[in-house]
Amino acid sequence: MLRVKQGERLQVLLENDLDQPTTVHWHGLRIPHAMDGVPEVTQAPVQPGETFLYDFTVPDAGTYWYHPHVNSSEQIGRGLHGALIVEEHSPPDVDRDLVWVLDDWRLKRDGTISDDFNRGMDISHGGRTGNFVTLNGRAPEPLQVRKNERIRLRLINVANARLFGLNFENHDVQVIALDGQPVTPHAPQNGMVLLAPGQRADIILDCTAEPGSSHRIIDAVYQDEATLFQNIVYDAGAPKRKTPRGPIMPLAPNPLVEPSLHDAEHHTITISGGAMGSLQGAVYKGKYRPIDELVQDMRIWALNGVAAHTTNMAPMLTFAKGKSHIVTIQNDTVFPHPMHLHGHSFRILSQDAKPVPHTPWADTVLVAGRGVVQIALVADNPGDWLFHCHVLSHVQGGMSSVIRVA
Ligand code: C2O
Ligand code: CU
Repeated sequence: MLRVKQGERLQVLLENDLDQPTTVHWHGLRIPHAMDGVPEVTQAPVQPGETFLYDFTVPDAGTYWYHPHVNSSEQIGRGLHGALIVEEHSPPDVDRDLVWVLDDWRLKRDGTISDDFNRGMDISHGGRTGNFVTLNGRAPEPLQVRKNERIRLRLINVANARLFGLNFENHDVQVIALDGQPVTPHAPQNGMVLLAPGQRADIILDCTAEPGSSHRIIDAVYQDEATLFQNIVYDAGAPKRKTPRGPIMPLAPNPLVEPSLHDAEHHTITISGGAMGSLQGAVYKGKYRPIDELVQDMRIWALNGVAAHTTNMAPMLTFAKGKSHIVTIQNDTVFPHPMHLHGHSFRILSQDAKPVPHTPWADTVLVAGRGVVQIALVADNPGDWLFHCHVLSHVQGGMSSVIRVA
């Protein structure tokens, strides 16, 4: 875990001790293009034995993470990732500030990592879900608390494909930030803190139950198989303080420029392909190809009719620099896709034609199967930025594109 203060300069030297090239991408950070860690687009891949110095100033406080952007499905799937916490100048008054990195692993019977990365079945369906869930790299252990304690939990979903939907029994948690960006404190929809791959949520957990009691945190995202994630266990001794904490104050906003909706340019991105889809063909390596040819290379997802073969692509869209843009993301497939834009945060305006409460800022938005989402942003960071699904097997299958800000 890296911790810095908002506005501080961060210098990180990457030494590649792998036997394959890699980079580091700073997920969610609005930093200059040259530091974004995308091979062939922002930098040359760092070869085995080579180094690269990342050097930038962090503009926004909040909960972020970093991970390689080469062979991501395998490199992240094998555990290359870390939390990046950017502290506020005046952080909220809490008793504890905890980081929970949520992950899952596909393990073989002997406990080693299954090396079946980029299986056709995972690429064409819901991605590489694992069979073993971890919290900060270990099997979840009970959270020990004291009555009237206030805890800030920073949740980060680093899994290749798994969604997490945490339900805190008997506790009224409040969401205070999404994808690092402050949001009006609010209870999660249906009581469930939903996190798609790549997403983060900061929540306030007020421990209001009785000393000695124990409560479940249920992972309820896959409704037919709700599972116990872990327990909240109260110390039987004296409360942390006599009375509960007062109201939750919103976090100070980050210096984001508000998009102007009435004169924004409109764009559409259509997601197609995958199993049970109706993709007839797509442009791949510069030429239209029918689906049977795409399947041979397992490139079976397309964004605006193009299946990616690399990160370095002709731009799918160009956003005029400094202007406001509204993007409609239309999912013509039956699978949900957490779509991530590099270099910017955007407001989520609506989901399936319904306005989204608090129109949160985000860098990754979950588009439901057959769903549609509208986002808005000011294109204020020049360069060619990746826009891709954060289900990493889907990236492998072609669901990646470039948006140029110029
Ligand atoms: Cu977290 Cu392009 O990725
Ligand atoms: Cu996807």
